[in-house]
Amino acid sequence: MLVSATEMLKKAKAGKYAVGQFNINNLEWTKSVLLTAQELKSPVILGVSEGAGKYMTGFKTVAAMVKAMDEELGITVPVALHLDHGTYEGCYKCIKAGFTSVMFDGSHYPIEENIEKTKELVAVSHALGLSIEAEVGSIGGEEDGVIGAGECADPDECKAIADLGVDMLAAGIGNIHGKYPENWAGLSFETLDAIQQKTGIMPLVLHGGTGIPEDMIKKAISLGVAKINVNTECQLSFADATRKYVEAGKDLEGKGFDPRKLLAPGAEAIKATVKEKMELFGSVGKAE
Ligand code: 13P
Repeated sequence: MLVSATEMLKKAKAGKYAVGQFNINNLEWTKSVLLTAQELKSPVILGVSEGAGKYMTGFKTVAAMVKAMDEELGITVPVALHLDHGTYEGCYKCIKAGFTSVMFDGSHYPIEENIEKTKELVAVSHALGLSIEAEVGSIGGEEDGVIGAGECADPDECKAIADLGVDMLAAGIGNIHGKYPENWAGLSFETLDAIQQKTGIMPLVLHGGTGIPEDMIKKAISLGVAKINVNTECQLSFADATRKYVEAGKDLEGKGFDPRKLLAPGAEAIKATVKEKMELFGSVGKAE
């Protein structure tokens, strides 16, 4: 059931668990995430970066595929189709294409400009029933060419953006996209605590979910994180399972080269990763 992310995140924040955002890259990814969410009776957010949208030939294609797949698979759990790290123009494209949620990442603008653009997009999104995520303090690392230095957000700036009526707020707390380096300092719970105190019931978003240790995930949820984004980890599981299949020569046996067979271990690996994350985030059974 395609919906905005507003209600599922309000419930998650109140119930002290987090909804996973899993980024999608193609049909297999989408199918694996939707089937796992349905099996586990968990709400879910499908994240689409601008790069992934372009890869899939455009946001209209993505929206049409997700809508149709949701129907054909008989998905009854709440599913939000969400633009990840959207530009100003990208948000308008997704709103028009039929997404149910957008993220406007204005973290690289001066705060006044971030506020101005976020405010406009909040009004447009809400008028059309979409939920909207904003960002303060950039997330480190690289994702689809978007590079962030990973500074911690200023709690006062978080409050200024939260007051605009966004539905979820991504705030940098030392998290980065991709694999964490050996010398990573960890999440700044002090910053997260200060942000939650300023922003109250606002569902907070933790980007860079790949590789964050379980205890840190649990602590972040206890301090107001209600949405956690995972991208790289599904890519790694998919690549690993596909490599094993090819290295074992399975593509050379019988009709093992059939894409439905070749991509099956990767698709199963994505399901296993999504399941593991949903269990850790505490969202299993919350859509019953
Ligand atoms: P990872 O790729 O580190 O899991 O981060 C995902 C993310 O934050 C998407 O916005």
